[in-house]
Amino acid sequence: MIHFFIDFFKQIKYQIIYYFLGAFAIIDDIQNRDKNQFDISQHNKVAVVTGGARGIGLEVVKKLLQCNLHVIVGCRDVSLGFNAIKQIAPMNGSFVVYKLDLKSFASVKNFAQQVLSKYDQIHLLVNNAGVMFVPYEKCENGHEAHWTTNYLSHFLLTELLLPVLKSTGVQGDNARIVNVTSCAHEASPPIDFDTINNEEGYITNAAYAKSKLAQLIFTKYLNKILADFPVKAFAVHPGVVDTELFNGTFLKIAFPWILKYICKTPEEGSRSIVYVCLSDAVDGRGYYYANCQPAKYLPYADDAKIQEILYTISKNTVEKYLNP
Ligand SMILES: NC(=O)c1ccc[n+]([C@@H]2O[C@H](COP(=O)([O-])OP(=O)(O)OC[C@H]3O[C@@H](n4cnc5c(N)ncnc54)[C@H](OP(=O)(O)O)[C@@H]3O)[C@@H](O)[C@H]2O)c1
Repeated sequence: MIHFFIDFFKQIKYQIIYYFLGAFAIIDDIQNRDKNQFDISQHNKVAVVTGGARGIGLEVVKKLLQCNLHVIVGCRDVSLGFNAIKQIAPMNGSFVVYKLDLKSFASVKNFAQQVLSKYDQIHLLVNNAGVMFVPYEKCENGHEAHWTTNYLSHFLLTELLLPVLKSTGVQGDNARIVNVTSCAHEASPPIDFDTINNEEGYITNAAYAKSKLAQLIFTKYLNKILADFPVKAFAVHPGVVDTELFNGTFLKIAFPWILKYICKTPEEGSRSIVYVCLSDAVDGRGYYYANCQPAKYLPYADDAKIQEILYTISKNTVEKYLNP
C-alpha cells in the first residue's frame, strides 16, 4: 500500500515537472521563432533516418529530399512509409524504405545489414524515431520500451553504421550522427542501471526522460571516441511539436486544440534537425541544439564517468548483435 502512494506521488511530481519544462520550452520556441530557420541548399549525400514515415521524421525526410539527398528511411510499415514519402513534392532527391522495428535488436541488425550491403557511403545518420509515456513493456530483448526504442536500439544502429560513417566523412566535411533528444531529459533522475528495466516503481514520464538523457550522454561520449575521425555527433531538441507523440496524454485528450495553437508544427520541428544535419555553421559550435542554435542542457551529461559507464553497459547489452 505504501509503495502505491510513493509511486502515485512520484507520478504527480513528474507531471508537475513536465508541465513546467513544457511551458518554458514553448516560451523558448516562441522567443526564438526567428532563429529557427535555415537555407535550403543542394547536397549530394546519403542519409539514414529512423521513423521517417510520419511526424517530425517525415518532415526531416521531406527537407533532405528537397536538398537533393538520397534518403534511406527505416520504419515499421514499409508500404505505409513508402506511400507517405511518395506524396512529397517537389522532390529533388531519392529514397528507399526498409523495415526497422526498434523494439527488436534483430530487426535493427537486419536493417543495418541491408543498408551496408547496398551503400558504401553514409554521410548522415538521424536517430529520430521514438515513443513517449508508453505503459510498461518489456521488449523482445528484455529491456523496457523507452529505453529500447529511444536509446539502446539507436545505440546499436549507430555502432553498426559507424565504420561506414567513418570512411565517408572527410576533413572539413564530417559525417554526422544526429540524435533527436528532448528538453525532457532535464526531468530525468540520475540513471540507475540496476533498475532501468524494472516494472516495479516504473514511472512512464521518468522512463522517457531517462532515455532522452541517455541519448545526450551517448552523443557527448561519441564525440570523445571519434575525436580522430571525420565524424561528429549532435543532439537536437526539436521544440514542443504537435504530433502523435502526445496521443494518450491528458493535454491531447482534454485540450487537443491547445497543442495546435501553442506548439510548433512538425515542419517547424524538423528545422533544427535538418540545420544540424547540413549546416556548415554547426561544426565546433556545441553539440546540443534547439531552434537552430546551441542550447543549454543538463550538466549531468558532461560527467565523464557516467558517459563511460553508459557506453560500456550499452555495448555489453547489444554485444551479440555487433558481430557480423
Ligand atoms: N513532438 C515533440 O514535442 C517532441 C519534443 C521533443 C523531442 N521529440 C522527439 O522527436 C522524435 C520524433 O517524434 P514525433 O513527435 O515525430 O513523434 P511521432 O509523430 O509519434 O513519430 C514517432 C516516430 O517514431 C517511430 N517509431 C516509434 N516506435 C518505433 C519502433 N518500435 N520502431 C521503429 N520506429 C518507431 C514511428 O514510426 P511508426 O510509423 O512505425 O510508428 C514514427 O515515425 C522522437 O524521438 C521524440 O522523442 C518530440
